[in-house]
Amino acid sequence: QVIPVIMAGGSGTRLWPLSRVQYPKQFLPLAPGGQTLLQATVQRLAGLDVASPLLICNEEHRFLAAEQLRAIGVEGARILLEPAGRNTAPAIALAALQASKLPAADDAVLLVLAADHFIPDVAAFQRCVHAALPLAQAGKLVAYGVVPTHAETGYGYIEQGAASGAGFVISRFVEKPDALAAQGYLESGRFLWNSGMFMFKARRYIQELERFAPDMLKACQAAIAGAHEDLTFVRVDKASFEACPSDSIDYVVMEKTADAVVVPLGAGWTDVGSWSALWDVSPKDDAGNAVQGDAILQDSVGTYVHASNRLVATVGVQNLVVVETKDAVLVASKDRVQDVKKVVEQLKADS
Ligand code: GDD
Ligand code: MG
Repeated sequence: QVIPVIMAGGSGTRLWPLSRVQYPKQFLPLAPGGQTLLQATVQRLAGLDVASPLLICNEEHRFLAAEQLRAIGVEGARILLEPAGRNTAPAIALAALQASKLPAADDAVLLVLAADHFIPDVAAFQRCVHAALPLAQAGKLVAYGVVPTHAETGYGYIEQGAASGAGFVISRFVEKPDALAAQGYLESGRFLWNSGMFMFKARRYIQELERFAPDMLKACQAAIAGAHEDLTFVRVDKASFEACPSDSIDYVVMEKTADAVVVPLGAGWTDVGSWSALWDVSPKDDAGNAVQGDAILQDSVGTYVHASNRLVATVGVQNLVVVETKDAVLVASKDRVQDVKKVVEQLKADS
């Protein structure tokens, strides 16, 4: 029994002003074909032999999530609701504990997915899931890895060791290295990016958490023990979960476990984390401009324009990002878009 677990609790601050606290990027129609990233994530599973997905997101987004699943005809999905974000390690713990309640729970394998990725080659993604399954069933913690193309510091890096089934033993897992280290990993040719998608038995994940973060596991167990369930929503106990330490699966489990393997994924994967990443995957004109909405670009090069409500025009500019929404406009240099999150931090500090 493979249970897809879709993590959809991130805030997507680098895609401000389109992505907002009340409406984060995974719920926006940013996928090709006008689907939301969440919907594209669910539909990527069509044809795989998996159970209906378990979605995990913030309580505030429950109706958005339920409505978007309904709109693509997904039935029987459960939605786990977090009263507050505690990052991915606890979110996956809740999913693993919830999955352990099911019949045949001993063998339950979780396919952990992020709700905000672009994966153009769905067939390759599905082949990779198939290939990784025996490793997960054998008790390995599988990370899906991507051949790096640049020294990105926003990703985790995985050093490949000896071959193991369809994958490789992970000899080192380094979450978000600095620029110098990232450059070295890239040049060595031995490293893959961590895609942020994983596969393992629910039981194995819980065991590793017990070893590396027992307090986190205890808090999640209490949160699930006190959960209120109806047909769709599983609301975990607020006080218990708020007391849970916050950290990511990468730091808490993947960097530490001795049982990690990586399976290479060649499916054109990208994390659509920033405006330049969106520009990257968008269709472009001869001058390398990508446009969404109503815009006129005169003598402009390498520029990304997203116009939501009004006409946007640019003249004689290069490598800019312009994002227009009803109540805010962003103008940024395309090579500085990682810092858009600082705008959001300042907005928070000012309010
Ligand atoms: N339910 C829930 N609760 N989901 C969460 C939470 C949370 O508290 N925090 C993050 N998520 C979801 C996000 O919505 C996203 O789908 C996924 O978990 C990953 O979180 P990010 O915050 O986007 O992580 P990241 O991009 O900084 O880093 C991770 O992904 C990279 C690839 O995109 C790491 O796994 C890196 O190693 C990896 O390279
Ligand atoms: Mg991300």
